[in-house]
Amino acid sequence: MSSTKTVYITTPIYYVNGRPHIGSGLTTLCCDFLKRYHAMRGAETWFLTGTDENATKNQEAAQEAGVAPLEFVTGLADEFRSAWRAMNFSFDDFIRTTEERHVRTVHEVFRRLRDSGDLYRGAYEGWYCVSDETFFRDTDVKDDLLCPNDECRKPLRRVQEENWFPRLSAYGDRLLEHIEGNPDFLQPDFRRNEVVAFIKQGLRDASVTRSNNGWGIPVPDEPDKVVYVWFDALINYLTATGWPDDMERYRSLWPADVHMMAKEIFVRFHATLWPAMLMALGLPLPKQVYAHGWWVGAEGKKEGKRTGGLPHPVALASEVEARSGAAPELAVDAVRYLLLREMAFHGDSEFNEESFLRRYNTDLANDLGNLGNRTVAMVSRYFAGEAPQAEPDAETGEFVKEVVADYEVAIREFRFNAALEAAWRLISHMNRLIEHRAPWSLAKQGKTDELASVLCTCLESVRVASVLIAPAMPSTSRALRASLGMDDEGDAPKWDEALQWGLRGPGTRLAPPKPLFPRIQDVTPSPPASTGDAKGLSAHGADGPSASPIVQSASPPAVQSSSPPAVGGDPQEKRMEPPAPEAQAPAYVTYEEFSKLDLRVAHVVEAEPIPNATKLLKLTVDLGGETRTILAGIAEMYQPDELKGKQIVVIANLQPRKMRGIESQGMLLAADVDGQAIILQPETPVPAGARVR
Ligand code: MSP
Repeated sequence: MSSTKTVYITTPIYYVNGRPHIGSGLTTLCCDFLKRYHAMRGAETWFLTGTDENATKNQEAAQEAGVAPLEFVTGLADEFRSAWRAMNFSFDDFIRTTEERHVRTVHEVFRRLRDSGDLYRGAYEGWYCVSDETFFRDTDVKDDLLCPNDECRKPLRRVQEENWFPRLSAYGDRLLEHIEGNPDFLQPDFRRNEVVAFIKQGLRDASVTRSNNGWGIPVPDEPDKVVYVWFDALINYLTATGWPDDMERYRSLWPADVHMMAKEIFVRFHATLWPAMLMALGLPLPKQVYAHGWWVGAEGKKEGKRTGGLPHPVALASEVEARSGAAPELAVDAVRYLLLREMAFHGDSEFNEESFLRRYNTDLANDLGNLGNRTVAMVSRYFAGEAPQAEPDAETGEFVKEVVADYEVAIREFRFNAALEAAWRLISHMNRLIEHRAPWSLAKQGKTDELASVLCTCLESVRVASVLIAPAMPSTSRALRASLGMDDEGDAPKWDEALQWGLRGPGTRLAPPKPLFPRIQDVTPSPPASTGDAKGLSAHGADGPSASPIVQSASPPAVQSSSPPAVGGDPQEKRMEPPAPEAQAPAYVTYEEFSKLDLRVAHVVEAEPIPNATKLLKLTVDLGGETRTILAGIAEMYQPDELKGKQIVVIANLQPRKMRGIESQGMLLAADVDGQAIILQPETPVPAGARVR
C-alpha cells in the first residue's frame, strides 16, 4: 500500500433487507483493523462503509414488512451504522446509495459511458434472480428454473426488457493483462485464478438497466428505467472520493488501496465488472481487491445455508459481557479478537459459540489476562510499583523481532488470524518464561538483579503486546498501557514502538492491577435469543458455489466439549499458567478433592467418525467389564483405525454429557501441544479398568 497518499479502505456496502450479523461484521472489522494498523504506521487513512439501498430485494423486504421502502432502508441503515459504532469500527464515511451525492455520481458515470459508446442499447430476454440481483442466460438455467447459484436456489423470474448494455466483452484482454502484470491486484492467489478462468471463458455484456418499478436510481433522461443495482452499488467507492466534483479530494483517495469483501461478490463484480467500468471511464484500478471466506451458521440450522443462525455482533458482545463480567468495551474487544482469531480467512469457518467462549477463557482470561496481571502485580510487590532499573532479556528481544516480522507478513496477506496468532506466541512465550524463571523464587533468594531483568522483560513484552493487539483490540491495548503507566492521551500507540526493545526507562509508576477478562465459568451455548434475525440475514451474491471447504474454526483442543471440570481448571483448554503467587492465591486442590476423580485405563474397542463433526470421534471403550461411549475432540490428530486397540486414560466419573445427540460417558486425557491433543497412554499394557492415581 502506498504511504504517500491516503490509505483508502472499503467494505462492500451491505444490503438493507436484513440486520447486521457477524458475517458483515467480519469484513467491517478487517477494514477497521487495516485502518488502525496503517494509522499506527503513520499513514493518513480513510475507511468507507455503508449500505446498498436500491436493490429490488430491499424493496420487497419493505413490502413484506408493510413499510415504505425509504423508511424501511433508513431504519436498517441506522441499525448498521450504530452496530458498527458499538463494535468500535472507526469508519470515516458511511455512504447510503439513496443519497443525493451518489445519485449524481451514478448519473455522471452513466452519461459518460453512454456518450463514449461503452454503453449500448439492446433487448434483453432471460432470467433474473432477485435474491442475487443477477441476470442469467437460458443456458445457465436448468429445468427447475431455480437460481443456478448453489447457495441461493431461489425461483428465477423471466424478464424481457429493452436495456442498456456495457461493452464488457471488449475489456477481457485488458483485464487479463492487468491481472497478470499486477499479481497483488486480486488476492488470494487461488481466487485470482478463478477470475482468470472466468474472464477466459469470455465475458458477456449483461444489462446494466432494468425497467423502473418504483425503486432504484432512474436512468438519466429515461425515467422508465432504473440503473441495475450492481452497476449503481460499485460506483459508491468513487462517489465517496468526491469524483468528479472534488478532484483534489478524489486524487488524495483514489485508487482505493483495498476493497475488502467475501468471495461471493469477488469474481463477477469486484474483479471483473468494476475494473472494466473503471477502464471504460479511464480511471485507475484499485490497488488490491481481497476476498475472504464466510462465517457459516451452525450445522443443522435450517434457516439458511450460509448465514442462518449467525449472531448479531453486538448481541454477542453483550453476551460475553454478561457471562464474564468484563467491561463493555473489553467485551467488544473480546468479540473482535475472537471473530478474527477463529476465522480461517482463505476458507469458510463454522460459527460455534462454545468454541468462541472457550477461546475467550484460554487466550484472553488465561494467556493475555494472566500475563498483564501477574507482571503488574509482581512489579508492585517487588519494586513498589515502579519499573525496575535493568536490561530486558536480549533473547526475548530477538523473539519479539521474529514475531513482529511474522505479524507484518500475515497482514500483507490479509491473514488476520495469523497476525494475532503471532502476537499470542509472544504472550505464551512470556507466560512460560515466568514459570521457568520463577520471579517469586528469585525474590526469596535475594537475586534482585536477575529479578529486575525478568520483570523488565515482562514489562517490555506486555508493552509490545499492547502494540500488536491495538488494531484488533484498541480498548484492551489502552487498558494494558494504562496499567503500565503509559499515557497515550487516548491515541493508539505508534507501530515503530513494537520494534524497539528496551524502550522503557526505569522508574515509571505502574497502575494497580485489574483483571481485564474475568473467566467465563459456563461456556455452554446460550439459547437462540442472542442470535440475529435469521430472516434477511442472507448475504447472497452470485459467484456460485465455492471450491473451498468449510473448515472448523481453529479452536483450542476439546477432548470432550464438556461441563465444568471436576477440579483445578478446565482440562480441555490450553494449560493455564499457574497463577503467580503475587497475583492470586495458588489454585491447589486437596488430595481429598483429587481422589474424587475416578481415573482409569481404558481399552479402545471401536473408534468411528461422527457425521458432520470434523473434530469429534466416537470411541467405544472397555473399562474392565464395562463398556462406555466417549466422545473426544481428537479427529484432527488421529484416524479412527489407529486408535483401535490402544490403551488410554479416562476420567470415568465425569458427569455424562450429550453432544451431537450422543451421550459421552467420560473424558479422555490428552496433552495439549500447540493446540493439538496428544493422547496419554500407560507406558506398558495394563488391564482395562486399572486405576490411575
Ligand atoms: N450489496 C452487495 C455488495 C455491493 S458492494 C459494491 C452485497 N451485500 S451483502 O449485504 O450481501 O453483503 C455481502 C458482503 O457482506 C460479503 O461480501 C461479505 O463482505 C459480508 N458478509 C455477508 N455475510 C457474510 C458471511 N456469512 N461471512 C463473511 N462475510 C459475510 O453483496
